[in-house]
Amino acid sequence: MVGKKSTLGGMYDHFLHIAPRYRELRTTDLGPVLFITHKLQNLPNIRAADIGCGAGRYSLKLVQHLGEKCHLFCLDNNREMLRHLNQHFIKNNIVNFTPIRSDSHKIPLQTDSLDCVMSFNAVHHFSLQNFLKESSRVLKNNGKLFIYTRLRDQNAKTIWGTHFPSFDKKETRLYELDELKSAFEKDPNLNINSVQFFEHHRVYPLEKLVEQAKNHHYSTFKFYKKHEFREALHRFVQNILNHYDDLDKISWKDQNTLLVIENKQ
Ligand SMILES: C[S@@+](CC[C@H](N)C(=O)[O-])C[C@H]1O[C@@H](n2cnc3c(N)ncnc32)[C@H](O)[C@@H]1O
Repeated sequence: MVGKKSTLGGMYDHFLHIAPRYRELRTTDLGPVLFITHKLQNLPNIRAADIGCGAGRYSLKLVQHLGEKCHLFCLDNNREMLRHLNQHFIKNNIVNFTPIRSDSHKIPLQTDSLDCVMSFNAVHHFSLQNFLKESSRVLKNNGKLFIYTRLRDQNAKTIWGTHFPSFDKKETRLYELDELKSAFEKDPNLNINSVQFFEHHRVYPLEKLVEQAKNHHYSTFKFYKKHEFREALHRFVQNILNHYDDLDKISWKDQNTLLVIENKQ
C-alpha cells in the first residue's frame, strides 16, 4: 500500500516538475481536435470538460476550434499544470474556460450538465471505472465522451518502444483496446460509438529526442532507476546510430486511438 502511495506521489511530483516545459516537450496532434470539432459542429452551445488537461495544449486548440459557443472546464489534479494552462489561455486571449483543480473521479460539476467530456493522453493515469462513472454522471443524455490515448501495442511501436531499452515493458499502465471495451461494457450508460485510429509521421533530430528523454517527457521514464536510465539512454543513442543515417531526420510513425462514446440514460 505504501509502495502504491509513494508511486502516485512520485507521479504527482513528476507532473509538478515538468509542468513549465510540458507543452514544448510533447508533440500535439491536430487530427483528434479536428475530428472532435466536426462531431460537435451542430451543437448551438457546448459545455465541455477536458479531464487531465495538463498545461492545456489540447484544451487551447479545442477552444480555438470550437469558438465562442464553447465553454471549456479544464480539470487536472496538479496545481502547476493548471497554473501554466491559465497563463497559456490568457496569453492567447481566451476567456471562455474555467480551470478546476480536481480528481478525475470527483468532477465538481453538476449532474447532466455537459455536452462533452474529453481526455487526452491521461486515461491511463486515472481510476478508469470511477472516471467513466463520473463522466456519465456529468454528461447530458446523448452527451459524448472522447478518449484519446495510445494503446499498449501502439506504445511498443513508437521510437521509444522500438529503440529505448525496456520502454514498452516498463509502461504497464496503458490499455489494449479490448480492455477499454470491456470497461465500457461494465458501465450501463456508456456505449462505444466508434473507434478512430490516427497515424502521425514524425521527423525529429536525435538531439531533440535525447532532450525529450532527459526531461522525462513521457512519465514512463520515471520507472527507471537513475543509473538504469543513463545506461538505457546510451543504448538508445547507439540503436539510433545503427538504424539511421541522417541524425537530423529520425523518422517513425506514431499511432493513437480515439474512442467516441455516447452517454444514454
Ligand atoms: C500525460 S499528462 C496529459 C496532459 C494533457 N492532457 C496533454 O495531453 O497534454 C496527464 C495529466 O493527467 C493529470 N492527472 C493524473 N492523474 C489525475 C487524476 N487522477 N485526476 C486528474 N488529473 C490527473 C496529470 O496531472 C497530468 O497533467
